[in-house]
Amino acid sequence: MGDLFWNKVAAAIIGLILMVMVIGVVGDIVFSEGDHGDEHAGLAYPIDLEAVLGGTAGGATIEEETIDLGTLLAAADASAGERIFRRCVSCHNAAPGAGNLQGPNMWGVVGRDIGAYPGFAYSSAMAEYPGDWTYEALDGFLANPRGYMSGTAMAFAGIRGDEDRADLLAYLQTLDDSQVPFPAPAPSEEEVVEDATLENVFTEEGAEASAAAIESIENIEDQMDALDDAAADGQVDDAEDNGN
Ligand code: HEC
Repeated sequence: MGDLFWNKVAAAIIGLILMVMVIGVVGDIVFSEGDHGDEHAGLAYPIDLEAVLGGTAGGATIEEETIDLGTLLAAADASAGERIFRRCVSCHNAAPGAGNLQGPNMWGVVGRDIGAYPGFAYSSAMAEYPGDWTYEALDGFLANPRGYMSGTAMAFAGIRGDEDRADLLAYLQTLDDSQVPFPAPAPSEEEVVEDATLENVFTEEGAEASAAAIESIENIEDQMDALDDAAADGQVDDAEDNGN
């Protein structure tokens, strides 16, 4: 065994000792007993771990500009929505088989093909509009009908309040035999920060997530290899073509 080997062993031991010292010092600072029984007993400096780990300045809360529809719907109140629907009843029936008024019947509207209720004469704008009435589509349309769908014959200004529209959508959900589930709420800022902390790497979920990440990287590598192979084949073919 050469000298170099023992040098490395010595370096490793010194490194280890240094690390233990650093951890000890930091631990003392963070967790030292409050001598005078102050309100932060056991915590010399109240460090906002979430702020440190999440990289937010001094624990400042991040103001979200808009709340996603899934979150709004999870907190929505269908009976409040039924009251808002009073603004629609002059033009829309809501009971099954109740027929159309100036607008089409709203029974089963969630998930329904846009502009396709039997027996109603839609504007061409709505009749030709692609897709189904998802919660997102209804939310956009009801916020500003003419802005969302230019040329619609629905003479209604729209409902500006995000919560009010969510309540209304929760009521529309009830107008069906089998109710279309709400979209899932987006994870909150806090959940995202929590998921990203080091602790989670050691949990089962964290391990699964990193395994999935590694797998997807491997998939990408495989695809790159396949692409390389294909490109090489292509060149060979081209070469053959040129040869003919
Ligand atoms: C002044 C009458 C009027 C009012 C008030 C009104 N609507 Fe309408 N609505 C219509 C008409 C007319 C149409 C068909 C539009 C077209 O053909 O372009 C329509 C279409 C719709 C559609 C599309 C239905 C489908 O079958 O594709 C939805 C959803 C809708 N309205 C919801 C509402 C809701 C919810 C309210 C209350 C907040 C409301 N409307 C208020 C007249 C109205």
